[in-house]
Amino acid sequence: MAVQANVILIGACGFVGGTILSRLSSAHPTLHITCLIRREEAAAELSSRYRNVTPVVDKDPSHSFLKAMAEKADLVINAGGDNVSAMCALLDGLALHDHGEPPRPRLISLTGPRSLIDLSKPITGNLAPDSRPWSDIDDAAAILSVPDDRIHAGADQAIIAHSISCGVGTILVSPGQLFGQGEGLFKIESNSATYYAASKARGRSFVIGDGTATWSWTSIHDLGDAVVFLAGIALEAGDHRERQMGVNLEGYHFVQTGDLSMLERALAVSERLGLGEVESISVEEAKKIHPFGHIMWGCGERTRGDKFAGLGWKPKRTDWKVLMEEKGGARA
Ligand SMILES: NC(=O)c1ccc[n+]([C@@H]2O[C@H](COP(=O)([O-])OP(=O)(O)OC[C@H]3O[C@@H](n4cnc5c(N)ncnc54)[C@H](OP(=O)(O)O)[C@@H]3O)[C@@H](O)[C@H]2O)c1
Repeated sequence: MAVQANVILIGACGFVGGTILSRLSSAHPTLHITCLIRREEAAAELSSRYRNVTPVVDKDPSHSFLKAMAEKADLVINAGGDNVSAMCALLDGLALHDHGEPPRPRLISLTGPRSLIDLSKPITGNLAPDSRPWSDIDDAAAILSVPDDRIHAGADQAIIAHSISCGVGTILVSPGQLFGQGEGLFKIESNSATYYAASKARGRSFVIGDGTATWSWTSIHDLGDAVVFLAGIALEAGDHRERQMGVNLEGYHFVQTGDLSMLERALAVSERLGLGEVESISVEEAKKIHPFGHIMWGCGERTRGDKFAGLGWKPKRTDWKVLMEEKGGARA
């Protein structure tokens, strides 16, 4: 069915947002998508590539501007990071026409499972013996009540609290590691390119500790597809899956395809680049390679996208090696 609606997208020039835009625009060509961007030079490229897109350039939009924009929107998709004040302004605008009980899904905001990492414990690079995968159904309450000084956690909790207070439904979408090449016009590589480049520059692929620390992963393609799937349910009036989808305190959705330990990843890169034995490095060494190296490569959390499974959505790209090597593949 052709969906006629107004969608605001933040982050269209980024890795995730660019992919969402590409997928959303082709899945729903009758949508009108307003892309709020910061770079003037990107506007012309977005307009010429996508007929149903209007770029709006504003480096520092005011609360009243965002609120007025959202008042005219049916759905906001945020792939622009943990920008709480902008999200609250947009929620205030959405609430002007769409509030009530139960709240309808009107904001889809990208977050990440780094909030699950407990940085008060030492980083070892090893899979903690007592760790287990987090379910977005069974552990929904725990995920949204981790200490709010953790990465993403404060923003997640503040956005959900504001959504509840203004009666608007928010869905937080949380992918783990993202593999594959982005489909947007601008940034098409992400953290997996960083690890590949770091191994290549060092002449050895590496892990911290024994490298059993394991992140869940999904492909950037499936993440784009998952967001478009949720947007379709949110925008289609009367879709029976809307209630099942859950919003706010029931609205945290993992997107997960598989799990991959740092050691498996390091071995694959080493084989591709002919770098020989995998090296074990210290946390301090990882920080020297990249300021977030110890977190990217020394920790890991496994997630289970039980909500998506219940809604009948599943990922299609299941081979991580193919994703790492697709289109020239300087990533791992
Ligand atoms: N990449 C991953 O591996 C990964 C994994 C898990 C979760 N995530 C989550 O996905 C989201 C997007 O990540 P990403 O990798 O796509 O990041 P990215 O490539 O850096 O893209 C972020 C985009 O958001 C825009 N942006 C940032 N701050 C903004 C602001 N205040 N106002 C308007 N636009 C703003 C940026 O604009 P400019 O182009 O002007 O800089 C950029 O286009 C984040 O929440 C991230 O935590 C990403």
